[in-house]
Amino acid sequence: MARDQRDYYYRLAKEEGYRARSAYKLLQINEKFNVIKRGDSVVDLGAAPGGWLQVARKLSGGKVVGVDLEAIEPIPDVVTFRADITSASTIDLIREALGGSANVVICDAAPNLTGAWDMDHAVSVDLSRSALRTALQLLKPGGNFVTKVFQGDLFIDFLNEVRREFSLVNAHSPKASRKESAETYIVAKRLLSSPVHRGDILDIQIDSVGKSGDGVAMVDGFAIIVRKSTLGDKLRVKIDAVKPNFAFGEILERKG
Ligand SMILES: C[S@@+](CC[C@H](N)C(=O)[O-])C[C@H]1O[C@@H](n2cnc3c(N)ncnc32)[C@H](O)[C@@H]1O
Repeated sequence: MARDQRDYYYRLAKEEGYRARSAYKLLQINEKFNVIKRGDSVVDLGAAPGGWLQVARKLSGGKVVGVDLEAIEPIPDVVTFRADITSASTIDLIREALGGSANVVICDAAPNLTGAWDMDHAVSVDLSRSALRTALQLLKPGGNFVTKVFQGDLFIDFLNEVRREFSLVNAHSPKASRKESAETYIVAKRLLSSPVHRGDILDIQIDSVGKSGDGVAMVDGFAIIVRKSTLGDKLRVKIDAVKPNFAFGEILERKG
C-alpha cells in the first residue's frame, strides 16, 4: 500500500512538472490550512531540489526565496542560495534577498538520516528550532509558519514553543506523507505581536470590568481578561490563550 502511494505521488510529480513528490505535501497542507495566499512573500528553508518552491511561487505569485545546503536548479521568479539554516547570519542573507520581511516561512529541512532514531529526531527538532527562530525574525505580525518535525520525545516541548508565538497551531500529517513516515508538519498561523505569551505567569491588578463582567488588567497596553475577578483584585495569573487583541488569564493565586 505504502509503495503504491509513493508511486502515485512520484508519477504525479513527473506528470505535473514538480521536482519532488513532497510538492503535494505543501499543496495538501495549503488546501487544509490556507497558509500561503495570493501576493504573499514566502521563505523556504531546506528547499532543494525545489518542489515546495514551485508550489509556493504558484500559490503566491509573490517574492519567493529558497535556502539549502545544496544548490537548487534555477526556478523562474524564485531567488535561491546556498546557506546553513542553523547559522544566525543566514537570516540577514534571506532578509536582503527578500528586500524586507515575509508573510510566510516554510521549512521541510531534514537531516541525513543515520538510522539511529533518537539522534535523527533530535537533529530534526534542532533544524525546526532554527526555522522557528528564523520565522520569528523574518515574519510580519500575523504571518504564518510551517515546519517538519520527526516525531519523538522532544516533539511536544517544541510544539509548545510554537504555540507560545502563534494564535492557531496544528500538528498535521498530509496524505502525501508516506504512511510509515514519522514526519509531522506543525502548521502555525498568525504570529502574535502581543507583549504576553501563552504559559506566561504574571502578577496583575484588575483595573476595569468588561461587558461580560470579567475583570480586565492592562499589560503594556494589552488587555488580559480574567474570569471570576473583580475591580481591584491583585492576582497571579497564567496566560492560557492569546488572541490578536487580548489574552485570557487563569487565576493561580489571589494576593492581599
Ligand atoms: C526533504 S528535502 C526538502 C524537499 C523540498 N521541500 C522540495 O519540495 O523539493 C530536505 C532538505 O533539507 C536540507 N537541509 C538539511 N539541513 C540543512 C541545513 N542545516 N541548512 C539548509 N538546508 C538543510 C537538505 O539539504 C535537503 O535538501
